[in-house]
Amino acid sequence: MAENLIVSDGTKDQKYNLLYSQIKALTEGEDDTIANMANIASMIHQTFGFWWTGFYRVCGNELVLGPFQGPLACSRIPYGKGVCGTSWKEARTLIVPDVDKFPGHIACSSLSRSEIVVPVYFNEEITAVLDIDSKDLGTFDETDASWLEKIVMLIGK
Ligand code: SME
Repeated sequence: MAENLIVSDGTKDQKYNLLYSQIKALTEGEDDTIANMANIASMIHQTFGFWWTGFYRVCGNELVLGPFQGPLACSRIPYGKGVCGTSWKEARTLIVPDVDKFPGHIACSSLSRSEIVVPVYFNEEITAVLDIDSKDLGTFDETDASWLEKIVMLIGK
């Protein structure tokens, strides 16, 4: 089944469109947040071949590593630190075209070149962030931001 979920052709927008329907169908029958995060990370990662795709969950005053795909990553990120902690603090999606130009970027992998972080909301509170890293510069744009913001709304309904 997993192979059938991967979309390899089409524009980025078309890929996200199909990915969104697949994620919506998969999460509709499941209310466990961790299970949904795990499948969402996998499906995004498989569709686009990113370097690292995963979630950090808000636990007290820091972010703690959640389900992800890719190489090992830092387990904890303090509030306001790195791209993830800044996205949480500022409550907004951050697109970073070149991680070396983001002050305080946390380099879990030296191969990561660009990044996007999207807050995950539940009952108007940020409960997690979705973090995606690419090995190329400038991978992410407003198309990624708007689709990923829509996708994370499917978590923890
Ligand atoms: N680069 C992130 C840390 C997490 S890893 O990229 C998986 C940051 O600066 O918050």
